[in-house]
Amino acid sequence: MRVLTVDPDHPAAIAIAEAATALRQGRLVAFPTETVYGLGANALDERAVRAIFTAKGRPSFNPLIAHVAEAEAARQCAAVWPVAAEHLAAAFWPGPLTLVLPKRPHIPDVVSAGLATVALRVPAHPVARALLRAAAVPVAAPSANRSTEVSPTTAGHVLKGLGESVHLILDAGPTSVGIESTVVDLSGGRPALLRPGTISQAELEAVVGPVLLPVRNAMGETAPRPSPGMLERHYAPRATVHLFAPERRDRAVEEMRDAAEHLRIGAMLLHPVPVQLGERIIMPAEPGLYAQRLYSALHELDDAGCDHIWIEQVPDHVAWAGVRDRLTRAAAR
Ligand code: TXA
Ligand code: MG
Repeated sequence: MRVLTVDPDHPAAIAIAEAATALRQGRLVAFPTETVYGLGANALDERAVRAIFTAKGRPSFNPLIAHVAEAEAARQCAAVWPVAAEHLAAAFWPGPLTLVLPKRPHIPDVVSAGLATVALRVPAHPVARALLRAAAVPVAAPSANRSTEVSPTTAGHVLKGLGESVHLILDAGPTSVGIESTVVDLSGGRPALLRPGTISQAELEAVVGPVLLPVRNAMGETAPRPSPGMLERHYAPRATVHLFAPERRDRAVEEMRDAAEHLRIGAMLLHPVPVQLGERIIMPAEPGLYAQRLYSALHELDDAGCDHIWIEQVPDHVAWAGVRDRLTRAAAR
């Protein structure tokens, strides 16, 4: 395993060439995107893609996103390219948006976990773009963490979680967006939001009109269309997470006080609390900055050995949908 440090805006051609060659040889390369670090493999190489599932401990039913350098290359992977795809691609690519479309047969089934659709994204990070151009193949890349654990926003997080199972890590410093891309399914009648991210429902709807939201039915299944990867427990630190609404703050403060007597506790808060805590992180009050900080804060609290983490819930507002989704899943048991 090697770590190559690169300039985030102007990565050295020699480092990019080495990483692209490794991908073409079927090896796993971790690289920065603007959202989180991805664990990449040549999407056309079934054996390489299988190695991603092994390294992450990812269930084989959970499909991967294929990353490409240009919208035109994404279109080559899709069997149909509806107007909605054209409009969303023009508005948000390169950027933190993933589109699910019917798949062309040359994309191996292992990428799509046997589904008839494929998830496609053109990332904006200059290092990702340079790598994708040099590799000249679609690159399957989930977040570069062990399945269900906290996603990586630095090369150090990748190293900590995956270590020797990665051939090469391109280290370009911390990522800017901080949470994973917004995933929109365009394979059915109407666009459906499968995973909220920093591109909000309102921003999507301004471009394509009404977007269906995932709704949980009585069986706990999501409708209209489930995304196999939206497992309840996800983005979870080692510590037990207690998510508290601001109106339940007094109660949470009491619980923290009790726990702090015999356990190592940490907190991620929007407002300070009157408790002596092992580790306390005051989070930004703006959704974009909160998202950028979210995973590094969870990693820090884990690294500090916290057994329990109290997290103050963020506002129930569309601008916070991506962060709320990650917090809810981090707290799921
Ligand atoms: O920002 C991101 O999207 C990052 C960076 C590396 O690009 N990648 C990422 O990948 O978050 P991953 O594998 O951690 O999440 C992909 C999500 C999962 O929820 C998966 O189930 C869903 O996309 N997905 C992939 N292909 C799908 C498909 N054909 N149909 C429905 N959902 C799909
Ligand atoms: Mg992930």
